[in-house]
Amino acid sequence: MHAETVLTPADLIWPLFIAEGDGVEEPIASLPGVSRWSIDGIVARGREARDLGIPCVALFPNTPPGLRSDDGAEALNPDNLMCRAIRALKDKVPEIGVLTDVALDPYTTHGHDGLVDAAGYVVNDRTADALVQQALNQARAGSDIIAPSDMMDGRIGLIRGALEGEGHVNVQIMSYAAKYASAFYGPFRDAVGSRGLLKGDKKTYQMDSANAEEALREVALDLAEGADSVMVKPGLPYLDIIARVKARFEVPVFAYQVSGEYAMIEAAIAAGAAERDAMVLETLMAFKRAGCAGVLTYHAAHAARLLAR
Ligand code: PBG
Repeated sequence: MHAETVLTPADLIWPLFIAEGDGVEEPIASLPGVSRWSIDGIVARGREARDLGIPCVALFPNTPPGLRSDDGAEALNPDNLMCRAIRALKDKVPEIGVLTDVALDPYTTHGHDGLVDAAGYVVNDRTADALVQQALNQARAGSDIIAPSDMMDGRIGLIRGALEGEGHVNVQIMSYAAKYASAFYGPFRDAVGSRGLLKGDKKTYQMDSANAEEALREVALDLAEGADSVMVKPGLPYLDIIARVKARFEVPVFAYQVSGEYAMIEAAIAAGAAERDAMVLETLMAFKRAGCAGVLTYHAAHAARLLAR
């Protein structure tokens, strides 16, 4: 009766990895219990999410190696894996929200989120132009929420303008506003196939874990440019950032409990050091307590099942 915080399936967003093919399930070794699914499997997961009361799924493609290039042009192909998955979901499970990641890393041969110059430096403005085209490509396919995860400056305003210009006035933008250059993304990079490709690190565009005030500046900029909601990422190591963002800005704040966090929890369980159900629910409740409107988590379906009991 005195609980200050509630956790429900409606707070959860389920990230899903897409594989080429039909009837394909590819388990991801560094993310035990998580698989890549071909589009038929993605549709099945969409139905599962809907039936569990999860409002939204987040899509990430594992682009076949032959379609990756220096400039990530496959991101702009209207028939790429991502767009086909969006269309299949909106066609077969229209009740489920579809959130799509905007960044070039699943499409580039160097594994970076943007375009690189001769020295390998990720260049901001040319990347932002490509991201605008990628966002339009996803919106045309039916994405409900565009989620730029690339951390380029100025891209939210450019994407909002382009969406309005084409009449996608109801497509939301959830900005990965405070995204840290983190050691917790390794299993995700396995899942989208970019880990072995990545040259260097992402510290020239993702944030320094030493900084909190900078996160507030990043959020302020993205909101001024037209973001509907903002994300802090990773999750648990950055609960202080979530609380500060929520205290400063009266907007929906989301957290991404990222792949390395999921892998840590599963490793603790495998080692007999923890009990899954209690640990999953406690960590997700922590995000709500810190001020989150919702959480992206690979445990979404499991948590929703627990919450339904
Ligand atoms: C890429 C992207 C990453 C994640 C989401 N989008 C990885 C990265 O920036 O290298 C990480 C998610 C996770 O670890 O679960 N733009």
